[in-house]
Amino acid sequence: MPQITFVQPDGSQRVLEAGDAATVMHVAIRHDVALLPAECGGQLACATCMVDLPADWAARLPPAGPDEHDMIEDRLGSVPEGRRLCCQIAVTAALDGLVLRIPPSQD
Ligand code: FES
Repeated sequence: MPQITFVQPDGSQRVLEAGDAATVMHVAIRHDVALLPAECGGQLACATCMVDLPADWAARLPPAGPDEHDMIEDRLGSVPEGRRLCCQIAVTAALDGLVLRIPPSQD
């Protein structure tokens, strides 16, 4: 099962087993990862599940779909490099070793 590392804004890290979670958001919710409220539960309706991917991982994963892109843009006014909604990142074996950063704010 893939292991995913969540890095908080203060640099603290948690390495979590994805198990049978469907998405990265589900991994975070199951383990009470801080600063990722994911208020809509993955319905692509809240943009409170934002994470930042390093460039190498951003290039390796399927890109954000138009609805995901628009949701982030509506929230922030633009889409920062590597910014994703983790409810839209499906867990696969290919995610093993993923390190993602949680932004200081979901606003
Ligand atoms: S959990 Fe609401 S958009 Fe991802």
